[in-house]
Amino acid sequence: MSCVSTTSQGHPQVSRIPSDLDIHRMPAHVAIIMDGNGRWAQARGLPRMMGHRAGVEALKTTLRLCNDWGIKALTAYAFSTENWSRPGDEVSFLMTLFERVLQQELDSLEKEQVQIRFLGDLEALPKRLQNLIEEATKRTALNKGIHFNVCTNYGGRRELVLAAKKLAERSASGELDPALIDENIFSAELLTADEVDPDLLIRTSGENRISNFLLWQLAYAEIHVTEVLWPDFNSVELKKALIDYQSRSRRFGGLDPISPSEQINS
Ligand code: FPP
Repeated sequence: MSCVSTTSQGHPQVSRIPSDLDIHRMPAHVAIIMDGNGRWAQARGLPRMMGHRAGVEALKTTLRLCNDWGIKALTAYAFSTENWSRPGDEVSFLMTLFERVLQQELDSLEKEQVQIRFLGDLEALPKRLQNLIEEATKRTALNKGIHFNVCTNYGGRRELVLAAKKLAERSASGELDPALIDENIFSAELLTADEVDPDLLIRTSGENRISNFLLWQLAYAEIHVTEVLWPDFNSVELKKALIDYQSRSRRFGGLDPISPSEQINS
């Protein structure tokens, strides 16, 4: 992942945005459900795991482009709470893949000012992966570039239940008046507490589902579904998703259209 140029202060430079994209109407936060790795591999007569390996390359390309094009946050669904029910060898392969990719890419992520975080129940992950996650999070915490959130052992319902539990505990201990609980106080208990909500959700492989991903945060996101399988997702597909996003009128439940740029600036 080595393509973003930086200024002398180490800030990423927004560069090379394709001319058919409106720089003033870029989403601040893009979320991605990376679907279709298995089908991509099967279509080539390869084991499913090769699809996951190719999926990593698509993710690296997407992260690099988003950082390069000035998008402030990218949140990717890497492993859901439901994915544990996959065959044991696939789960082990994915855990080892996450470890290997983190080890291989950490220096580049640091250099490119990417701030990486893992969202989910991390304690259930293999200890070696947990240690790498801790190291990567610490080493990139002060970086000024894109926020790269990797949802790992993540489930939207679980996140909501945990937030409700925390608020109940704070109320029971007298620290918080339950009458004061509002959307801001609730969302501050979510794993994405310091992130703006995604403006755009991209899902590959043609499935029209949210699949327990960012259930609260996607409330007003524009959704772009492409038939392309995740390993084939590339700059052309990302650009198509962004052009689609820029063509939408965002009303947030009201009557007057709000353009993406107004939403970002407000
Ligand atoms: C869904 O495709 C994909 C996954 C469950 C895994 C996604 C993980 C990666 C792309 C690797 C990311 C790596 C890092 C380091 C964050 P699928 O297997 O459900 O495909 P199918 O629907 O065709 O079976």
